[in-house]
Amino acid sequence: MWYNFSAMKDKCGNVGQKGKTLKRRVRVEIDLGALVRNYRKIVAHVKPMRVLSVLKANAYGLGVGAYAKALAEAGCREFGVAEPFEALELLAVLRRGGFAADVQILSSILPDEIAPMVKAGVILPITDIATAKLISDAAHRAKKMARVHFKLDTGMGRLGILAKDALETMRAVRKLPNLDCEGIFSHCPMAYDPKDPFTKRQIKLFKSIVASCAKEGIAFRKVHMAASDAINNFPETAKPPFTMVRTGINLHGSFDPNGRKALNVEPVLSLRTRVAQVRELPAGTTLGYGRTWCLAQPTKVATISAGYADGLPLALTNRGHVFIGGRRCKIIGRISMDYTTVDVSDVPGVKAGDEVVCFGTCGRDSITPDDWALLKGTHAYDIICSLGSRVQRVVK
Ligand SMILES: Cc1ncc(COP(=O)(O)O)c(C=O)c1O
Repeated sequence: MWYNFSAMKDKCGNVGQKGKTLKRRVRVEIDLGALVRNYRKIVAHVKPMRVLSVLKANAYGLGVGAYAKALAEAGCREFGVAEPFEALELLAVLRRGGFAADVQILSSILPDEIAPMVKAGVILPITDIATAKLISDAAHRAKKMARVHFKLDTGMGRLGILAKDALETMRAVRKLPNLDCEGIFSHCPMAYDPKDPFTKRQIKLFKSIVASCAKEGIAFRKVHMAASDAINNFPETAKPPFTMVRTGINLHGSFDPNGRKALNVEPVLSLRTRVAQVRELPAGTTLGYGRTWCLAQPTKVATISAGYADGLPLALTNRGHVFIGGRRCKIIGRISMDYTTVDVSDVPGVKAGDEVVCFGTCGRDSITPDDWALLKGTHAYDIICSLGSRVQRVVK
């Protein structure tokens, strides 16, 4: 029998038939209440600074629509993205919700992208004079003022105006018509280390440029340098002359593995799947590719329906845990693309179809993306952005 799948999709994207939905096996549950509490904690921590929510890469892969709506309802009026497509998508979400909020591209803008961005009213980064001229021309043609922020490279080594050229560039750009040069910002590569002298020098350099601007009568409504790392480790980046901070990973309740965790944010995400099969296997059985685990004794093994295609790092092999039946169970055998084997000897009554919490809370215990990041030798961004395309994003 052939099914018309698109006709059977419910509003969450579940495929079903005549009212019966077929749920995805692996889903990431997004606790919007926790997201909003995290946002409010950040706002309270940096008060009176503005807080820009960074929702680039589809809100770190989790779904920009739900994130933007929840944050806008909580009062957020500044949002940041990496590139034009994301900016338009976010603007559409905000307009649909009736929110008048700023959407800002934080990284770069290419010549052919400028006119549509100016038309849409997206705040653009000035990374060099040539780009500023193109933005000015486009704004002139559109009979609009384009809102722009000078993006200074004070040590990130990625994009923007070099600090040594900053004043000269700003003087030149400010003479161009149809530009509202409302902001100046920079980004730090090592702000997760509170003792890092490089970040201290970066902040000093940035502040000295802002001070030189002030002496020349160049003032900015928005001055920002801190992302989550600096908010936690360099509190001076949330005090004047700064007026705003940008936050991404802390909204999700995660941190860089290094440095201070000054904000008491809570986990937002929980990754869940189901048990596919439970078997009693004899001693001497080896599990999975590479035969990396050999059972020392007869063992009850559950094969769960999630693997590296869903975002479980290979690094969890023989080291990670999941929760089944309210208990922490060890992963044994190599993670494969779609399945993972788990020791469930201590879980009474476990059977096919039971729920598995890959990360999330279980009573007082929890496993977080940050825990996985430590096992993989990476950071939580990598874990969160690596959740697979078949993982259903479910908002709670
Ligand atoms: C320019 C800029 N600002 C802010 C952020 C948000 O960083 P975080 O998620 O660490 O808060 C990023 C993310 O990479 C960024 O590139």
